[in-house]
Amino acid sequence: MSDRLYIFDTTLRDGEQVPGCQLNTVEKIEVAKALEELGVDVIEAGFPVSSPGDFKSVEEISKAVTWPTICALTRAVENDIRVAADALKYAKHKRIHTGIGTSDSHIRYKFNSTREEIIERAVRAVKYAKSFVEDVQFYAEDAGRTDNEYLARVVQAVVNAGATVINIPDTTGYCLPWEFEQKIRYLMEHVDGIHNVRIATHCHNDLGMATANTISGILGGARQAEVTINGIGERAGNTSLEEVVMALRSHKELNIDTNINATKITGISRLVSSLMNMPVQPNKAIVGRNAFAHSSGIHQDGVLKNRESYEIIDPKDVGIDENSIVLTARSGRAALKHRLHVLGCDLEKEALDKAYEAFLKLADRKKEITDDDVLMLAGAHREQH
Ligand code: KIV
Ligand code: ZN
Repeated sequence: MSDRLYIFDTTLRDGEQVPGCQLNTVEKIEVAKALEELGVDVIEAGFPVSSPGDFKSVEEISKAVTWPTICALTRAVENDIRVAADALKYAKHKRIHTGIGTSDSHIRYKFNSTREEIIERAVRAVKYAKSFVEDVQFYAEDAGRTDNEYLARVVQAVVNAGATVINIPDTTGYCLPWEFEQKIRYLMEHVDGIHNVRIATHCHNDLGMATANTISGILGGARQAEVTINGIGERAGNTSLEEVVMALRSHKELNIDTNINATKITGISRLVSSLMNMPVQPNKAIVGRNAFAHSSGIHQDGVLKNRESYEIIDPKDVGIDENSIVLTARSGRAALKHRLHVLGCDLEKEALDKAYEAFLKLADRKKEITDDDVLMLAGAHREQH
């Protein structure tokens, strides 16, 4: 049996922090229900103390959703924690996510504090959150730039105080994959009782390594991944849910899997993109418009002979009917023949050769050839023949 990776989705909290991506409560409920159908384990529904709207959304999502744990973010501040507990009162399964910055830069410039004082504040926050809920997750903000020895002391203190999940964010997207794996491994080896809690990765994509770092963290021992749909989030974004899920599915030898129903991935990607008015880049892994589109002749020929020549994922597995063979000036005869066949227009060899010649001329003028163009070419050459 494979090891279970818990998926913590923060589309509605870290993802929604992106300027222009704000959703109203009704829209957030729609996304939360889609996340529940997708099979995520935890939905981070918001930061209740930040605004009455966020409070309301956490409250309403708590009522609307049944299976996933609903999580609310706080700073290590008593009032934040009290408000979060109130917003979560209707949740069937609830978690408070509290924490504080642990890197020297955060300690010095954000908090004008000391390492010892930060540990005391972290412990106080966890104990206070525990007085409201059993499930308390602690985040060590900027853990990516926190030295491992001090980080282990912070983690030891909050584990002793009763935290159930320890989140190790690479807040600034600074780490390299091997470094992040070592960080998680270091905690696994140096914190007493770490095996009784769950370590989470929370990676940002500033260097384009969020997914690589998340997978590395999982290899190091983390068993919760914090992700967003389409990788939306502050600056260059968060780790993409779809990339982590499909990387694990594609590498069965890792023997780690999630509860995600991957066939729902494309649908929720489109939903989040349209509600948040945030287009997905065409070449985005898994959910981009071109993720399963083949345009060069050699690739098209290979895929038509056997899909696996150029595809490591069956598009059906992520909810797409089939790959697309895009007809351009780089397409080969096999691609044209295939499209003609799909459109119900099989041509004899000679007619196909003629149609292909005309197709190349047309494709040099137009960027992409449509089905209407193909039908027009077929008609002209079938008649001539
Ligand atoms: O990136 C980060 O450090 C966060 C924390 C608040 C968990 O989003
Ligand atoms: Zn974050």
